[in-house]
Amino acid sequence: MLIAGNWKMFKGPHEARTFATQIRHLPERATGTEIVLCPPYVALQATVQGLGEGSDVRVYAQNVHWELDGAFTGEISAPMLAELGVKGAIVGHSERRQLFGETDETVGRRAEAALEAGIAVIACVGETEGEREAEQTEAVLRRQVEALPRHERLVIAYEPVWAIGTGQTATPDMAQEAHAFIKSLHPTRVLYGGSVKPENARVLLAQPDIDGALVGGASLDAVSFEAICLAGAEPVVG
Ligand code: PGA
Repeated sequence: MLIAGNWKMFKGPHEARTFATQIRHLPERATGTEIVLCPPYVALQATVQGLGEGSDVRVYAQNVHWELDGAFTGEISAPMLAELGVKGAIVGHSERRQLFGETDETVGRRAEAALEAGIAVIACVGETEGEREAEQTEAVLRRQVEALPRHERLVIAYEPVWAIGTGQTATPDMAQEAHAFIKSLHPTRVLYGGSVKPENARVLLAQPDIDGALVGGASLDAVSFEAICLAGAEPVVG
């Protein structure tokens, strides 16, 4: 199981360091669950430092550029992240695709560069509400997944756009069906994202093809993030 907290544009260095200090020992209780925090760029170093040397919690960035360096104002490269102790990056989040012009091609290039530099990747895919209503879900997922490189350090996050930050979660069956379809195209671990909360985490994570979660809003609070990480570690009874 892999549980990643995507903080989006929340928490500066001070808050990030405090959060990291609070959860640094969580992996010892969440047996079998890998835990990842994705703070904003400016809080990456504070998060790494707050976790300290002995913690198994890993830190990923929320994006990464495809070149090693160059005239790309506002971008950050994979070697720069690695130098800070960052172990991976999210690419292709739907907010990047919808608000910042990210395309399948740029997502693929970002993923390739990160893998090449030796860090891990969480690549996000997912259909909009309109695409689901038009029965385009599989076509959209196919197009997005086929643009991604295959690599042991790449995991996919299925995040239906209509479920992100809306409180509207995909039903476990709906998520399971999409995950199985994604795995038929690209055999890798697939995380679910979109309004994951402590209340719905267990039943989602119990689906056979759901290998973890990418958590936005509910990862901002240490107590609720812990509850989700622990839900992934516990077997569902009954
Ligand atoms: P949410 O965000 O959990 O707040 O819906 C998930 C994400 O965007 O990764």
